[in-house]
Amino acid sequence: MVPLRFYRHLIPRLCAAARSPFSPAPAAAAAACAPRPIRSLPSLAMAAYGTGVSADRRLLFRQLFEKESSTYTYLLADIADPEKPAVLIDPVDRTVDRDLNLIKELGLKLIYAMNTHVHADHITGTGLIKTKLPGAKSVISKASGAKADRSVEHGEKIYFGNLFLEVRATPGHTAGCVTYVTGDSDDQPSPRMAFTGDALIIRGCGRTDFQGGSSDELYQSVHSQIFTLPKDTLLYPAHDYKGFTVTTVEEEAAYNARLTKDKETFKTIMENLNLSYPKMIDVAVPANLVCGIQDPPSKV
Ligand SMILES: [Fe+2]
Repeated sequence: MVPLRFYRHLIPRLCAAARSPFSPAPAAAAAACAPRPIRSLPSLAMAAYGTGVSADRRLLFRQLFEKESSTYTYLLADIADPEKPAVLIDPVDRTVDRDLNLIKELGLKLIYAMNTHVHADHITGTGLIKTKLPGAKSVISKASGAKADRSVEHGEKIYFGNLFLEVRATPGHTAGCVTYVTGDSDDQPSPRMAFTGDALIIRGCGRTDFQGGSSDELYQSVHSQIFTLPKDTLLYPAHDYKGFTVTTVEEEAAYNARLTKDKETFKTIMENLNLSYPKMIDVAVPANLVCGIQDPPSKV
């Protein structure tokens, strides 16, 4: 039998669920959350992964998946704000209808469709979203050179209601890559969450051999902008090819197969990956540089 202590990290999220208006039996669920003696914790089990409404009842969070490019799209909303303002990070053109339908079902108001970088393996959904939801604005880094309604730089805050994402420049996979990180004050989600794009994927990282990539820069970016976040920060990548969904700073600093090495070893690894030319790059990059609108709609 598995000792109870291995499930201890789930308890705060279960308590949050017990307070949810969707919970069918609040009294029973609350009873299950009563304090119980817990002796010790495994050192790497500090951060809980959860979807749904966070403990402070303000953040709604969904992790969505596009299977052809193995891309994650993230939906975040401030549901304590009367307008329920929301952002989508890294939407994919093929799944825009799914995403917008979910947003509608949940009663959210999408204000930003954001990209962590100019993707080479799929076409962003931001262009399509803007044609279907004219009020939504696209966001990407200024350094990417791509067209968007809002071009952001390192240190900027992107607000949705009372919640915000901080922009951290993490170049190296591409010259314009950024990581979006939730705030660090008491009224922001805890633990913090970082949406790393392809700068860091679970136990690995994005390639650095095209689109202004640099292994030297990527190493510096991850170590200075991601590994310096609190250990329990939840890291959400733009892709996963093995079935993983989330990791933490502590886990990656201990187990990332590439980024735990010294810089010179990391550079040697990246120079010898011998990856094939991305099959979508010649279509995806030009489209993504103009917000995913390949052929602007005619005025007819
Ligand atoms: Fe990428």
